Amino acid sequence: MDKILVIGACGQLGSELTNELGKIYGNENVIASDISQPNAAIKDFSFEQLDVMNSARLAEIVDHHGINQVYHLAAILSAKGEENPQWAWNLNMTGLLNVLELAKEKQLKRIYWPSSIAVFGPSTPRVNTPQDTVMDPNTVYGISKLAGERWCEYYFEKYGVDVRSLRYPGLIGYKSLPGGGTTDYAVDIYHKALSGDKFECFLSEDTYLPMMYMSDAIKATIDLMRAPDEQVKVRSSYNVSAISFSPTEIVESIQKHIPDFKASYNPDFRQAIADSWPDSIDDSVARNDWGWEPAYDLDTMTSDILKNLPELLSSFQQA
Ligand code: SER
Repeated sequence: MDKILVIGACGQLGSELTNELGKIYGNENVIASDISQPNAAIKDFSFEQLDVMNSARLAEIVDHHGINQVYHLAAILSAKGEENPQWAWNLNMTGLLNVLELAKEKQLKRIYWPSSIAVFGPSTPRVNTPQDTVMDPNTVYGISKLAGERWCEYYFEKYGVDVRSLRYPGLIGYKSLPGGGTTDYAVDIYHKALSGDKFECFLSEDTYLPMMYMSDAIKATIDLMRAPDEQVKVRSSYNVSAISFSPTEIVESIQKHIPDFKASYNPDFRQAIADSWPDSIDDSVARNDWGWEPAYDLDTMTSDILKNLPELLSSFQQA
């Protein structure tokens, strides 16, 4: 019987992944944890407050619930990390090492940990970035994710810890908000478009970044975690890709539904972060190893969000 702990369950990815895991394993077999108080999105789950820096508390929760799989999602993202690099490094690295060490000691069945396109840097080939290539990240977030990838492979090779990872592109969902990332504009823009506001973008209009709709990200995560051992050949982290677009292109996609929607551009410090990342990603290794395939492109994602977000927003207003 699998018993799963999600660390960072209140976050953008965590709140949706927790619900999806509940559908597969049963809500009673998924424990949500976060440093924050529980939110409405995870109200159907047992909740434990956890600062992942506290390894004793982490071990206590794992023992108490008989946990055998951990999804460790808690991290400081790229833009927020630059405001306090030591803090971001400390949290991102110590958190991961606490989870890996626990997995080794307690011989947990499987660990999931997300990496990011932020592991790439200015010298990385920018278009169709390969799985194995130059990696020279220049954000503390990217440095911590690259170091984390090396630690994951180390724990797999030396101790047999079955840790699996994806290099997510920017994740776009309408059910929960991101915090502190460089790709967050592509979530905020839909909220502005629906409220009738003009949108001011913190990236320039022609900045291409790799992105993915949340339902594809959840599918990729669960497919990787349920893949047979022999199919998981990369133990650092897999490139996964779905969509690549610029702010101009997402505006045009929204204008097909809301013709009056307008955006202006006022790049800030996040432009330099975006400029150091790839435009698009080659994910052929993930496709070949465990059959990864995304379902959504830019226009199908836009239609889905603009159809479902108004109802969600009005349910929040009524609550
Ligand atoms: N979405 C993340 C960020 O912008 C990238 O992994 O920081």
